[in-house]
Amino acid sequence: MLLISDQDIQEHLSMNEAIIAVEKAFKEYHEGKAKMPTRSTIMLPKYNGSISFMPSYLEETNIQATKIISIYPNNPKTGLPTTSAWLIVNDPETGQISALMEASYLTAMRTGAVTGVAAKYLARKDSKIVAVFGAGIQARTQLMAITTIRKIEEAKVYDPNISRAEVYAKEMSEKLGILVKVSEEGSDAAKDADIIVTATTSRNPVINRKWLDKKTHISAIGAFYPDCREIDSETVRDSKIVIDDWEAMKLEAGDILIPIKEGVINENNIYATLGEIVTGAKEGRMDKDGLTLFKSVGLAIQDSSVAKAVLTKIKYSQP
Ligand SMILES: NC(=O)c1ccc[n+]([C@@H]2O[C@H](COP(=O)([O-])OP(=O)(O)OC[C@H]3O[C@@H](n4cnc5c(N)ncnc54)[C@H](O)[C@@H]3O)[C@@H](O)[C@H]2O)c1
Repeated sequence: MLLISDQDIQEHLSMNEAIIAVEKAFKEYHEGKAKMPTRSTIMLPKYNGSISFMPSYLEETNIQATKIISIYPNNPKTGLPTTSAWLIVNDPETGQISALMEASYLTAMRTGAVTGVAAKYLARKDSKIVAVFGAGIQARTQLMAITTIRKIEEAKVYDPNISRAEVYAKEMSEKLGILVKVSEEGSDAAKDADIIVTATTSRNPVINRKWLDKKTHISAIGAFYPDCREIDSETVRDSKIVIDDWEAMKLEAGDILIPIKEGVINENNIYATLGEIVTGAKEGRMDKDGLTLFKSVGLAIQDSSVAKAVLTKIKYSQP
């Protein structure tokens, strides 16, 4: 059995490879060549935490994997990460466990990658300025993915924890070779942004419709409980909405469920799933489009597809 660490994954997986793997996974899923039971989550309100179990099987890619992931937003206060995860790979043919993978970095990569896939189809080709809300772990791979897909010249980061934002700006600017500035207000970050990413632990909207330009693309990846959201109802109402999955959206996506409950939108306002977009069943951004919104709650197929990409790379790198 292979034992794979976060560091192995960092050494073997590029963001471009993760984006390719995740795009293929959404295609397979849309074509009915994947099995993905609903994510099962145990909520632990006493500790403001949750633990989720995420199995999936991709028939063409030939991978079966199950991730266990915990989300504890108070953890950074004591120096621990919000997200921690491991992934078990079973051989689809024999059922034997063939690999055990640390999956915190893998989660960040696959969550970045899905934003990359969505931006490829939904963000304007001439996008140059990105606003990132949240300066945590996910926010890093979000920016890596967008700069992989578009020629980004400048990023702005907003986080109420200014020192986190400053560390993020320095680190990402050095890593990506672009200007990354700290914004002291959300409105300043959103101003003139072609692409906005929300990767926060906020339970309430961090985006205000009034701040947005006409043709901005938004990727909302932070909230995944039905009573939490990062995007205000007016922005959702005015956007061409793409979701990762209907079933998961109905259980977890407060960003969509709350405006539905308020009567601001209904399910007919949802334009497509990402699978429909990547297979060409529905068109991505069109000239006439204004705001576009991709809402991700995160799917197990993202984990298994990226795990397969890592395993393949490691196998071929061995003498
Ligand atoms: N969609 C997915 O597939 C997926 C995958 C992994 C994690 N997540 C979610 O992404 C979120 C971020 O995860 P992380 O690991 O980066 O956490 P993190 O704790 O490392 O970072 C979160 C950051 O959000 C900031 N923040 C809180 N409120 C804010 C606000 N109002 N405006 C701007 N920033 C704010 C915090 O200060 C913190 O720096 C979590 O909610 C997590 O559940 C989603």
